[in-house]
Amino acid sequence: MIRRDLIFLGLALLLAGLLMPVTPAAVLLAAAALWLWGELAVVWIYARWKPVEPVRVPVGELPAHVAAYNPRNKMYFWMWRVEPNRSVLGFSSLEVVHEFYNKLALRRDEQLAYVYLYGEKFIIFSSRRYDTGRVRDVEEILREFFVPQRVTPWIGIGRPVDRRIWLSTLWVLLYAAFAGAAALLLLPIWAWIVHNFVKYYRESYMMFTLTHMPHTDTFSLSREMLELAAATDAKTIARMEKWAVAFADRPSVEIKKKFAKIYEGRDTGKRLVRLAEYKELLERVAAFNERPIFLFVYAEDDIPSMDVARDYFATADFWLRRSYVRALTGDLTRFPIFYGGTLLGAQRLVELAKDIFGKPVTVPLDSLPTVHGVIIGPSGMGKSWTVASWLYQLSKYVDVVVIDPHGDYYKWAEKVGAEVVPIPHVLPRDLPEVLRRSMWFRRLIEGKYGRLDGASPEAVLTEEAAALGIRPEYQDFRLGNIVLDLTPLKKDTEAQAFWAVVMMIYLINKLLEEKVEQLKTIIVFDEARLLSQHGTARYSEVLLDMLRDLVFGGRKYGFAVWFIVQLETQLPWDIIRSASVQLFLGGARDYVLPLARTVELDNDDVAYLLSAITPREAALSGRPYAMGILRVKPRDHKYHVKIYLDPELK
Ligand SMILES: Nc1ncnc2c1ncn2[C@@H]1O[C@H](COP(=O)(O)OP(=O)(O)OP(=O)(O)O)[C@@H](O)[C@H]1O
Ligand SMILES: [Mg+2]
Repeated sequence: MIRRDLIFLGLALLLAGLLMPVTPAAVLLAAAALWLWGELAVVWIYARWKPVEPVRVPVGELPAHVAAYNPRNKMYFWMWRVEPNRSVLGFSSLEVVHEFYNKLALRRDEQLAYVYLYGEKFIIFSSRRYDTGRVRDVEEILREFFVPQRVTPWIGIGRPVDRRIWLSTLWVLLYAAFAGAAALLLLPIWAWIVHNFVKYYRESYMMFTLTHMPHTDTFSLSREMLELAAATDAKTIARMEKWAVAFADRPSVEIKKKFAKIYEGRDTGKRLVRLAEYKELLERVAAFNERPIFLFVYAEDDIPSMDVARDYFATADFWLRRSYVRALTGDLTRFPIFYGGTLLGAQRLVELAKDIFGKPVTVPLDSLPTVHGVIIGPSGMGKSWTVASWLYQLSKYVDVVVIDPHGDYYKWAEKVGAEVVPIPHVLPRDLPEVLRRSMWFRRLIEGKYGRLDGASPEAVLTEEAAALGIRPEYQDFRLGNIVLDLTPLKKDTEAQAFWAVVMMIYLINKLLEEKVEQLKTIIVFDEARLLSQHGTARYSEVLLDMLRDLVFGGRKYGFAVWFIVQLETQLPWDIIRSASVQLFLGGARDYVLPLARTVELDNDDVAYLLSAITPREAALSGRPYAMGILRVKPRDHKYHVKIYLDPELK
C-alpha cells in the first residue's frame, strides 16, 4: 500500500514536472501530491537508514488505564500484557478466533493488534475515540480469552531523528532545475513536512523494530487451502521472536459488490481469474460465516506464503497501519494468537520441556492450582529419565522423595546428594509410631489380615520383613531429597507394593503434620501400577482412597504426588484428571488411541504421539529426548513437547 502511495507521488511529480513549462499551474498538482503523501515519503526515506515510529504521548490519569496518543493521526492506543487461557495452533484455533472476533465487534476506526515480543505477549487496542467505556468492554472480552494485565502502552521514546534529514530539501532545487522556477513553491511545503517529521517521529529502539510486512494486498485462499496453510504459517510464525498482527473490520458487502461488478464485466481471461478468486472468498463468507477484515502483518523474517518480505517501513507502519491486506477472519488462524499461554507468576519457575518450536515451556510452581502430576507412557519411552531430569531442576526449590522400584534415580541422588535408603532394610525410626496413629494403616492391616486389632505396627512390620528374610534397622530420617529404594524387593512385586504403600502412608502422615502453605515436597511414585496389580486390590484401595482425599484436598498440604504409570488404566481416572501437570509420552497406535480417547486428545495430538521416537533413537542425532504432550491446569494449556534428557541422569 505504501508502495502504491509512493508510486502515485512519483507519477504526480513527474507529470507536474513535465507540464510545468507549459503551465506553471501544474505545480498545484505536485503540491497536492506532496501534501497527501509527502510525510510517508520522508518516513520511508528515513526508514531505509534507521527505523522510525511516530511519537505517542500518554493520556489518561492513573490508576485508570493510561493510553498512548499519536497526536499526528489522532489515534489512541490501550495496551495489555496477555496470556492466552488456552493453547491452540493453526486451523484448530478457528472456532476461538471467530468467537473472539465476533465478540469484539470492532467498529470503524478501531483495530486490535496482537504483539509477540521475545516470549511476552501484548494486545493493543486502538481507536480514534477516547472512550474509556468502550475500552472497558474490550477488556471484558479479552478476559474471556486471555489473562490481561493493563500496562502503559509503549510511547515513542527513542532518540530524536537526525537533523540531517533537512538536507532532503535539496531535491526541490534539483526538481526546480528540471521543472522550472514554479517548483520552488514546493520548498515551503517540503519544509513543513520535514518539520512535522522531526516533531512527530522518533528513531525506534532496535528491540521493538519489525522488519518485514506483506507485499500483497489480498489473501484469498479456498477453505481447503486455508486448512493446509494455516498450520504451516502458524508454525513458521511461532518460531519467530518478534511478530505482530493487527486487524480491523471491513464491510461485508464489499466482497459481494466486487464480485457482482466482475461478474457483469467484460469477458476477458483476467475476469475469469478474478471471478475464481472472489468465488472462494464468497464461499468462505457464505458457507463458513467468515467476516471480511483488514489484516496488518509484521514479522522479523520472510513468510513466502503470505508474501511477507523485508520492508523498511514496517516499524512505522505498525503504528500508522497503512499497509493492509484484505482477508477473512479465517486467515487469523495463520497466526499463533492463542498459542503458548503460560501461567502468570514469576516465582519458582521450572522449565519442563521445549515446545515444537524449541521455545521453553515453563510452569510457575506457585501458580498451579495443585501440583499433583501424572506421567503416562509405554515402557522405554523415557518416563523415569524425564522425571529424573525434571527432579534435578525441581530439587532446587522443593524436597523430593522418590519411591523407586527400579533403581532409576541413583544417578539423580548422586548428583544432588540425596540419600538412597534400601527398603525395608532401613526404615525410619518413627515409622511404627506414625503408623500407629494412622487410620489408613489400620485399614490396610484390616484389609490384609482381616481383623487384627491387637497387633502393633512394629510386629506387623517385623513379620512382613521376616517373610522376606530381612531384619529392618530403624534409623533417623530427614525428609529432604531422598530415594526410597525398593530394588531389594525386585523379585517380589507383591512385597514391593506392600512396602510402597506403607512408605506412602508414612510420608503423607508425616507431611500432613507439618503446616505449610507453599509447596515444599514432591513425592514421586515411579511404577505406580504397583498400586493396581498383584492381588493387592485391598491395600491399593486404601492408598488410592487416601490419595484421592489428598489430591482433592487441593494445595493446602504443601506437598504433591507425581505418579508414573505405563497405561491410563493403571490409575483411577479421578486422579489422572485432577493432576495439574499431565505428560503423555508417545508410542504405537494400540497404546495412543485408547489413551487419546480417555484423556481427550485431538487428531493433531494423536499424530504427534504416533511420531514419537525412543530416547535412544533421539540420541543418535545428538541429545536424547522424550516426545510427548504436556498439559498444564487450570487452563487448557497444551503443548507438543520434546523433553531433553540429561545423559548424566541415566
Ligand atoms: N545412555 C543412553 N543413551 C540413550 N538412550 C538410553 C540410554 N540409556 C537408556 N536409554 C533409553 O532410554 C529409555 C528408557 O528410559 P526410561 O527408563 O525412562 O523409560 P520408562 O518410560 O521409565 O520405561 P519403564 O516404564 O519401563 O520404566 C529406553 O528407550 C532406553 O533405550
Ligand atoms: Mg521407568
